[in-house]
Amino acid sequence: MSTYLQHLIGRRRAMSLGFGTMIGMGAFTFISQSKDAQSPIQEQALRRSFIVAGEASLRDRAARKGLLYGSAVLRSKLANDPEFAASITNECSILVPIGELKWDMLRTDLEHFNFEPADWLIEFTHKRNMLVRGHTLIWHEALPSWVESVMNSANAKQILTHHISTVVKRYAGKIHSWDVVNEAIQLRDGRSDGLRNTPWLLMLGPDYIEMAFRTAAKADPKAMLVYNDFGLDYDTPADNAKRAAVLKLLERLKLKGVPVHALGIQAHLLRDKNPRFNPEKFKTFLQNVASLGLKILITELDVTDKTLPKDIQIRDRMVAAAYEDYLSVALAEPAVIAVLTWGISDRYTWLSKHDPRQDGASVRPLPLDQNLKRKLVWNAIARSFDKAPRRSS
Ligand code: XIL
Repeated sequence: MSTYLQHLIGRRRAMSLGFGTMIGMGAFTFISQSKDAQSPIQEQALRRSFIVAGEASLRDRAARKGLLYGSAVLRSKLANDPEFAASITNECSILVPIGELKWDMLRTDLEHFNFEPADWLIEFTHKRNMLVRGHTLIWHEALPSWVESVMNSANAKQILTHHISTVVKRYAGKIHSWDVVNEAIQLRDGRSDGLRNTPWLLMLGPDYIEMAFRTAAKADPKAMLVYNDFGLDYDTPADNAKRAAVLKLLERLKLKGVPVHALGIQAHLLRDKNPRFNPEKFKTFLQNVASLGLKILITELDVTDKTLPKDIQIRDRMVAAAYEDYLSVALAEPAVIAVLTWGISDRYTWLSKHDPRQDGASVRPLPLDQNLKRKLVWNAIARSFDKAPRRSS
């Protein structure tokens, strides 16, 4: 045990209980009154047990409750790392391609599509009785450079509908759910409807969203169609405003009879400098979304450990606590049907590049460590599934 951890433990009488005896303690039970306390999140993370009964996989624990658990994957890793592929197959019931269905990988130019990598991945899931999600049809990122040079307001509608129809028809009946539109809200862009100034908005106006959903529904009438976004998690001015804007967007779409069936909550956690998780506010948001008749998927869960202490024991506990706090609220809402993490092992995570630590230590945001061993994040997710109410259908 690190001296830092021993130091923290030594200072607190309650700690004499030991980690192992704290089974079932609520996420918000212990907030220290001590003046020299670490941050509350650090404190309560250090006191939690994270004990899990049995060895069953996340896939099986989720299935017992009528839930899905899965991960984002890249074909290149699945194809070239058999150990990694085995962990994915063991733990997951649903996968989502990280990049293979984005425009920059799929679209070489205006006329052509390269379906080979996505075909391979979808086949991988079907051979193993797993489900697969589609990510993503319309996003302001990952647009190949030819789009901007070719697209104008006269041909934009044709480009958008042709892309969606072609891709969705090809995989009709094979995709569990499509992220039809990704990250369309950006309040900083200053519009009263909260929409982000994307090339699609500039060319087609706000109706591009409705257009995208209607085109996808026509191409695969049975697919679950999802609006997916980030920044919906915390009690910060930015996230509070974003939740309200996303809710308004979903209400507008539903009122117009647009075929949107679910909200995807990306849940990239601890992204902000000063995140405050407010279970009540988050719960109310989920209830509001559910009351529109929508399902909810947690689509890209991970926890940035950039600003957490370097010590691995402390860091892993804090990351795991963030997962457990979040999932215990999310999974209490019956409309939540699936949890996907954005990767399953610290061996392959976008955060190593996107949000690296200043001290050069490798990031540890996911359920399995770099050696594919289960770590406390795995326990946190397992515990959350074990405690979740069973879905009725
Ligand atoms: C990320 C990938 O993980 C990176 O490898 C890529 O460079 C950029 O995109 N929200 C999303 C995902 O919807 O598609 C993003 O994936 C992460 C944020």
